[in-house]
Amino acid sequence: KQTPTSIVVFGATGDLAKRKLFPAFFNLFLEGWMPEDFTIFSLGRKEHTDETFGEYILENIHNFSRNHDFSEAQWSQFREKIRYVPFDIKNDQSFYSLKKELDEYDSEIAHRTDRIFYLSIAPNFIENVSNNLKKYELVKDRIKDRIIIEKPFGYDKASAIHLNNLLSNNFEENQIYRIDHYLGKETVQNILAFRFANIMFEPLWNNKYIDSIQITVAEKVGVEERGSYYDGAGALRDMIQNHLMQILCMVAMEPPSVFKSSEIRNKKADVLKSVRRIHVEDIEHYTVRAQYTQGRIDGHDKVGYLEEPGVNPGSKTETFVAMKFYIDNERWNGVPFYMRTGKSMAAKQSSVVISFKEVPDDTFRNNKSMLSPNKLTINIQPEMDIKLSFMAKKPGLNMKLKPVDMVFDFFECSPNTPEAYETLLLDVLEGDPTLFMRSDQVEEAWDVISNIQEAWERFDIAKMQTYPAGSWGPEASDELLKRQGHYWISNSEIN
Ligand code: BG6
Repeated sequence: KQTPTSIVVFGATGDLAKRKLFPAFFNLFLEGWMPEDFTIFSLGRKEHTDETFGEYILENIHNFSRNHDFSEAQWSQFREKIRYVPFDIKNDQSFYSLKKELDEYDSEIAHRTDRIFYLSIAPNFIENVSNNLKKYELVKDRIKDRIIIEKPFGYDKASAIHLNNLLSNNFEENQIYRIDHYLGKETVQNILAFRFANIMFEPLWNNKYIDSIQITVAEKVGVEERGSYYDGAGALRDMIQNHLMQILCMVAMEPPSVFKSSEIRNKKADVLKSVRRIHVEDIEHYTVRAQYTQGRIDGHDKVGYLEEPGVNPGSKTETFVAMKFYIDNERWNGVPFYMRTGKSMAAKQSSVVISFKEVPDDTFRNNKSMLSPNKLTINIQPEMDIKLSFMAKKPGLNMKLKPVDMVFDFFECSPNTPEAYETLLLDVLEGDPTLFMRSDQVEEAWDVISNIQEAWERFDIAKMQTYPAGSWGPEASDELLKRQGHYWISNSEIN
């Protein structure tokens, strides 16, 4: 059981807290994972009393939690653990009062609590908060006190380094938990179990047997209410630099010598170091950027990106990226890794497809046209399964072949799997940084995309394409794969 803990949420009235954090804390509480003694100090600018804030949280739990199965008594026990603290980040006095409040809580329960500070705030406030946590001695214990930060971790490599330096002035690396919520997804973590707890796949996991790998994270949603943030970021920064790179690391890393955070994080960082940087002269050939135009999704009209609220009508920000990478190491030499991500696409689909090479042209040489290469599909969401496609005999008197599937369905096994934030918050409570990004990983991931950023933004290399909302992206994205005899595998073909 963990020690008594003070959880301090900066930005407690914000969107993330509302949709994800409080429902996650409550589910952990319901399932007995929270420490015996804990209090969530909820900091926000809005006017609230503990009462009204409690009501607001309950409403959000009803709206956003995966779990609605709780009693009033359970809610009121949890409710007592939440305190609302009106807080002005720009005012040092607020930090001073917070410190007093935390110290008082410690004396109430006669214990110096572990302190966890969740910075669910805009990036431009991080510097001030980080410095003040140190200055006012809110964070003291270099092991027990932790700070959680959300992406974006910088805007490019230089700003990421700046942010990391700033944090490291005030905290040890092991106190800093950088969240990439994709790593909290069950199906992403399962990639490690699948690869390293089975003997059957790892021997084939290399360029001798694998022809190509593709990673798709497609979303049906557009930029919704986040137009102004998104317009300053774009798909390369918002998705590729973090979520897709992290999935890539899980798929491509070498086996860790032991399942331990430092070991796993080292192996992941190695992948990013080995990703071949795309030279400026190849950017046109290896990358596709595009914006969605007006279209239809689920029978509804969808406006084009440039008409979205908060978006500059002359914007050059991409809402779709497709690209090809190589990893220069012994295992992956010559295997193309394709990545694509986009908003307002035809379907929600996060998946990894591993396409194996063809069988040598011998036994079934007369039946060659019937053969399709083996494929392993890891569906991350919304489907949560692993599917192995292989050839089998068609029942009948002659020797005809057809591809068949073997499926492991996560969802069938456990329809109410924990949300990513539950897993990640529990890991922070337990002090396990395995699923969080270390500073070197963040910087390396920026480095991988920095040539592309520069070529697109400074030199306008690679023409901005368009795709109608509700499609699978621009034609140029299909062309990118076709040139090497490959094609994107989309939901309809996967399922
Ligand atoms: C966030 C991005 O990190 O991930 C969003 O900023 C994106 O733009 C979201 O929509 C996708 O997360 P999920 O879990 O819905 O796939």
